[in-house]
Amino acid sequence: MLQTGRLPVQTKGNQLLDYTRTAETFDWRSVESAFSWSVTGRVNTAYEAIDRHVDEGRGEQIALQYSDPSRNEQLTFAEMKANSNRFANVLRKYNVKKGDRVFIFMPRVPEFYTSFFGVIKVGAIVGPLFEAFMEEAVKDRIADSEASVLVTTPDLLPRVPRQELHSLKHVIIVGNDVDHGNDNIISYYKEMKEASTDGEPEWVDREDPMIIHYTSGSTGKPKGVVHAHNAMIQHYQTGKWVLDLQPEDIYWCTADPGWVTGTSYGIFAPWLNGVTNVIRGGRFSPGDWYQTLEKNKVTVWYSAPTALRMLMAAGDELIRNYDLSSIRHILSVGEPLNPEVIRWGMKVYGKRIHDTWWMTETGAILIANYPQMEIKPGSMGKPFPGIRAAIIDDEGNELPPNQMGNLAIQTPWPSLMREIWKNPQKYQEYFRLKGWYISGDSAYMDEEGYFWFQGRLDDVINTSGERVGPFEVESKLVEHPAVAEAGVIGKPDPVRGQIIKAFVSLRDGYQPSDELKEEIRQFVKNGLAAHAAPREIEFKDKLPKTRSGKIMRRVLKAWELGLPTGDLSTLED
Ligand code: WT7
Repeated sequence: MLQTGRLPVQTKGNQLLDYTRTAETFDWRSVESAFSWSVTGRVNTAYEAIDRHVDEGRGEQIALQYSDPSRNEQLTFAEMKANSNRFANVLRKYNVKKGDRVFIFMPRVPEFYTSFFGVIKVGAIVGPLFEAFMEEAVKDRIADSEASVLVTTPDLLPRVPRQELHSLKHVIIVGNDVDHGNDNIISYYKEMKEASTDGEPEWVDREDPMIIHYTSGSTGKPKGVVHAHNAMIQHYQTGKWVLDLQPEDIYWCTADPGWVTGTSYGIFAPWLNGVTNVIRGGRFSPGDWYQTLEKNKVTVWYSAPTALRMLMAAGDELIRNYDLSSIRHILSVGEPLNPEVIRWGMKVYGKRIHDTWWMTETGAILIANYPQMEIKPGSMGKPFPGIRAAIIDDEGNELPPNQMGNLAIQTPWPSLMREIWKNPQKYQEYFRLKGWYISGDSAYMDEEGYFWFQGRLDDVINTSGERVGPFEVESKLVEHPAVAEAGVIGKPDPVRGQIIKAFVSLRDGYQPSDELKEEIRQFVKNGLAAHAAPREIEFKDKLPKTRSGKIMRRVLKAWELGLPTGDLSTLED
């Protein structure tokens, strides 16, 4: 057992004074009383995250602190309330109703957040789309969810194949030169100018759906993970106890709202807790990031291992140009956080980096290193109070400490996904062992109850913290005229965690070449998204397949790592 290099408690988190005791006595119902709706049962997350702060006298506080290379903007809670009311009224004018799907395909500019809360205020389901998605990724998600409205920008509109998206009734364009000739196209700024700031949010049931995030599995197209308004209970409480948010905090979550971290912890947790939320637009650059921390005097910073490794690679010299003394608490999520990165964080920021574990499906943090806990670098920490995590075997038996198995969580908890959109069978697969949610991660728990991540049990790839399904990439690859068959795996990478590697066999008449590799790479990039394009392509005459024709990614992985290929009895020939 790794008992060396434990990091002692550094700052006393103000709000969770005794983890062990709290873990034993905590009851989620005690959190509900923080919300007025605990009595009526009628709720709207947008009200709790934004309007409530106005009603309680915090309307003039800065809610959104926005900057990108060309824009600087601040919005108070009162302004956010007024803007999102306006947008809700725009949606009402175009007949958007409770339960409808409204997608937002936009960079993280202030209009994103206005639209986002406007959608929730009318009781519709908001679907954020990552701005780097290309045509096919956009099409799959809008088509599967049968969204009726899309909010986007003129730059991104060409990636929306409107002719093929029959459910789409309106496209709202956030930009100046909007062509009004087409009555499906609506100008955001024109409508917002005319819309009233009045109106109450639609009061819904706590179990009504609120947000849909598409995420990848090892088979099939991305699946629509649906979360209910009820998730706010956990967003709020993990915000308090894991992010340690306190009223005067200035918080920065570096994730894009196209992914779940960018909504659960880039939107809900900070604003439910009423803190100032820093949003930085534009691309990643180490200097920009340090400047964002310094200029905004960020106190709580939630980021990801790949970004931290890139900052580490940028060198310690750079850090000396910035005053980062405002930082009180640093957290990470999405991939294994290397002990080396934690040690580096101690050296350059003088702070411990707190790893947290959760998934799109879990909606919120389940396992974490709390401010009040000793950190064992390399461990994801301990379960959140009210959460029971265990390592189980394939029959659902709990395994003793130090044995590797399936990381599973006892059901239910407040932010657990409520449905996979139009796919009850996929939903049930997560709960195939009675009483447990099966994460698909393998891990072990040590004698002190700390959990240690070991890997994925399926073929899902985690590249730079972004989850990519091999099937989606393979399907795109075989659309290329030169590609006969393709198998895709994650290859270990020191900075990105994993990179996507494709094994490709060519059709007759095509010769392997570097130009062809690059052409195929670009083809995937332009069809799906840059992060889904294979960084490495290797041509093979034949790919290992089962007799039923399924490509054996397990064998490709073994080839790549130079490991034994294991049982090949089901191999085709
Ligand atoms: C998968 C979920 C919602 C968080 C962002 C990613 C991996 C997540 C950790 C961690 C090692 C981690 C798991 C998980 N993962 N956190 N602290 N250490 N691995 O959400 O895209 O749904 O991916 O990310 O493999 O299953 P996601």
